[in-house]
Amino acid sequence: MNCNFDREIDRSQSDSVKWSRSVIEELGGNPDAVPFWVADMDFPPPPSVLKAIQERASHPIFGYSAFPRELPGALQAWLKYRHSWETAIESLVFIPGMMTGIAVALTLLTRPGNGVILQTPAYNPFFSVIEKNGRAVARNPLLRDGSRYVIDFQHLEELLSKPENTALLFCSPHNPAGRVWTREELERTAELCRKYQTAVISDEIHADLTYPQAVHIPFSSLAASKETVSATFMAPSKTFNIAGEKLAAAVISDTELREKFNRFLEGAALSHLPIFAPAAALAAYTGGHAWLRELTSYLQENLAVLREYLERFIPELELSEPEASFIAFIDCTKLIPLIGGTSPAKFFSLKAGVLLHDGSWFGPEGRSCVRINFGTQRARLRKALEKMRTAVESVRRG
Ligand SMILES: Cc1ncc(COP(=O)(O)O)c(C=O)c1O
Repeated sequence: MNCNFDREIDRSQSDSVKWSRSVIEELGGNPDAVPFWVADMDFPPPPSVLKAIQERASHPIFGYSAFPRELPGALQAWLKYRHSWETAIESLVFIPGMMTGIAVALTLLTRPGNGVILQTPAYNPFFSVIEKNGRAVARNPLLRDGSRYVIDFQHLEELLSKPENTALLFCSPHNPAGRVWTREELERTAELCRKYQTAVISDEIHADLTYPQAVHIPFSSLAASKETVSATFMAPSKTFNIAGEKLAAAVISDTELREKFNRFLEGAALSHLPIFAPAAALAAYTGGHAWLRELTSYLQENLAVLREYLERFIPELELSEPEASFIAFIDCTKLIPLIGGTSPAKFFSLKAGVLLHDGSWFGPEGRSCVRINFGTQRARLRKALEKMRTAVESVRRG
């Protein structure tokens, strides 16, 4: 397969939230800034996916659709291929989006008023899914080990030992820290959750996008996880750049929880999926293998460009090396004294015309950071880095 990830496609007229001028202005005060924020990529999906959607769209009638019976088997085969994970077909439940599934799992596994442990900085909707469902966030801030984030296990155990904290909302690989947790870290986490009988909801949306040096291990595949209730969530949305299709899957091997989960979905009328999402997912899981390999190597090269550029020209910005996915958290602590009262994200939006994701969106632990989405054409990434360098040079000179 020869994918041309360098081809720029104008998204400004495509209802893209990332490229919407009004959203860009609202976030960074500069409608002309080039967006590097929300986590979708500027690439078309695999040709098999595009073909499946186009074929279905070419039929002019869009009535209720039948669920494609091959989809569970295709996901099961994908999980074995990509993660060497053997799952029972009946453990797979399809849902209209990751956050929907997480909200359902939280509702079933915890009670109003309970604490849900979250490793911060964290994907912002995790805070709202916990708080808006009447639960409380119990923060377990990640620690910095050089430029790498690690889990504070002592503090995690303190939180787990409190009976009011009944679940851990785990993010693996972690957004925004970029970590692919090692087997040792995962087993220690699973062992602690087993010790305190804490339920684990594991969001693994970025799992398929690991770089060669890191191996993703699904939480529910760990032996210690079998002795607690856990639900693992996977999705084709980030992997194949079809996030707007809103499809994800829960892997729940505990029969009682799965039945409750299915009943809840039916009760909330959430068990029917729209037309295009299942067709896209099926085409991705059956025909996206080669495309994903090429994408991963393109992203790896983008990451090398980003890393080398920052080290060489903007040493005030410290990259937390992502081990998966197309987003990277950057610590701007050394830049802050040079830019007065503005946040680093505002500074780059106004002075460089580059809209990054403001680190405070990920909670107070991210305040001095920005997150960059490098899932874009390399030329566009280079151009943004040059503009960021010029902006920093102008404040260095004072
Ligand atoms: C960790 C994580 N979970 C969930 C989502 C969103 O998933 P969905 O749009 O399927 O609800 C994202 C999107 O960026 C994410 O990074």
